[in-house]
Amino acid sequence: MAAPTLVMATRNAGKVRELRDLLQGLGIELLSLADFPDLPEIPEEGATFLENASFKAKEVARLTHLPALADDSGLEVAALEGRPGVFSARYAQDRTGGAIPSDANNWRKLLEEMQGIPWEERWARFVCEIALALPDGRIFTAQGECPGYIANEPKGEHGFGYDPVFWVPEFGCHMAELEPAIKNRISHRARALAALREILVSIKDEL
Ligand code: IMP
Repeated sequence: MAAPTLVMATRNAGKVRELRDLLQGLGIELLSLADFPDLPEIPEEGATFLENASFKAKEVARLTHLPALADDSGLEVAALEGRPGVFSARYAQDRTGGAIPSDANNWRKLLEEMQGIPWEERWARFVCEIALALPDGRIFTAQGECPGYIANEPKGEHGFGYDPVFWVPEFGCHMAELEPAIKNRISHRARALAALREILVSIKDEL
């Protein structure tokens, strides 16, 4: 019998690598959107990470007739009522004349907004929602979180996005100072994927 096949609904090579690592050993053949170059770009217009991940997974399952896995993630800052949230990647777009902002554009805007806010009120978390959609319409979801604080200044060279300004209490340093192997153990994405792996194990025979 052929191995069950799953499409990872992303074109991001880094994410594909991370997903492959975390899902290895399950006997599932993993494809990505790179294997479906003609599929249209799927918009991320939902109000929550869960809405975005679910919509993307469902669309890709519908278009490919295969089980599809999609994620959406970002940073939620308590003092900013959960912003940047689903706008994490585009947070500083108001300052770039509509162009996609760089990671540094985004975290600079965040640091400016956090100026003067005391340490104990700088609590934040990275959140990742993953959705698995089956061609028959069923959907399974898993969430992961990584708690920390918004630092007063950037530090560290690893990672991406808001990692330079995210302080991780567990390690007493900025996320961007952690070796990738350590980040990949504690990150919101790793935690969501660990939960999703359990789901995959339990429904593998139905894929
Ligand atoms: P997406 O899940 O690829 O749409 O990620 C949205 C945005 O959230 C990214 O562009 C980053 O700004 C931010 N983000 C998501 N995960 C991380 C992370 O692990 N570290 C830092 N920033 C992240």
